[in-house]
Amino acid sequence: MTGNPAIIRNVEALRRHTADWRKAGLAYAVVPTMGAIHEGHQELVRQGRQHASRVIATVFVNPKQFAAHEDLAKYPRDEPGDVAKLGAAGADVVFMPAPEEVYPQGFSTTVSLTGPAKAGLEDRFRPHFFAGVATVVAKLFLQTGADVAMFGEKDYQQLMVVTRMVRDLDIPIRVIGVPTVREADGLAKSSRNVYLSAAERRQALAIYASLSRAADAIRAGQTPQGAARAAARSLTASGFKVDYVAARNAGTLAPPRGKDEPLRLLAAAWAGKTRLIDNIAVQSSR
Ligand code: PAF
Repeated sequence: MTGNPAIIRNVEALRRHTADWRKAGLAYAVVPTMGAIHEGHQELVRQGRQHASRVIATVFVNPKQFAAHEDLAKYPRDEPGDVAKLGAAGADVVFMPAPEEVYPQGFSTTVSLTGPAKAGLEDRFRPHFFAGVATVVAKLFLQTGADVAMFGEKDYQQLMVVTRMVRDLDIPIRVIGVPTVREADGLAKSSRNVYLSAAERRQALAIYASLSRAADAIRAGQTPQGAARAAARSLTASGFKVDYVAARNAGTLAPPRGKDEPLRLLAAAWAGKTRLIDNIAVQSSR
């Protein structure tokens, strides 16, 4: 179906809806989002339909993953636009709970994480982030009871954290990573791209370009650490304030140790007041 999704705002109504799907023997996917829907989210919904008969997209700007100084209040919100875009991509249900539905009075539980959540990447700069993400994602998995969950590789550390959590807590859902959707010039699609000025938008191209050069250099025999340092220098030279560029084990996000392990190059850098993240796969041939 591509059309008008049902809008559901509370867990009880959501469970009534999914109970009917279960009775009919239908498998369903969940696509967690914070709204500001763009082509990347729509691809998650489309991929969800490849893996299941029905798709629930969730739209909830999760206060627990924002620190006090971050952009919770100014995070872009457009309910009707989001519903239309999710429906056009094939979502059957848009679950849009109010903050009190997700975090009722007295809410006192947080998922506590180690492993990929403490890899020293996003967590170094956003220490509250993954506990907030994991807590809301665990709730969304339990609330929806979905069979599969679609997550973008754009937020690669998040994808690894959620994958690990599901395995560790035996949550009966299959987490599927979907390749990053990019603009024609390579910039990863992101809800935060709307904040970029025209000059910053041009500057932003350097992130994907420098990661791609670093991946080529590793394939050609440079050490992952050396290639990551060169990418960080080139981003600084392009005017970015670099939070990190790192080559990590693609599964654990630990620093690389062996010769032939699968690697991921990950970067976060500021173009003006906008923080951009990106990552790419690299298989070392050393
Ligand atoms: O990636 C996001 O948009 C959020 O971190 C998520 C997974 C919806 C949890 O709030």
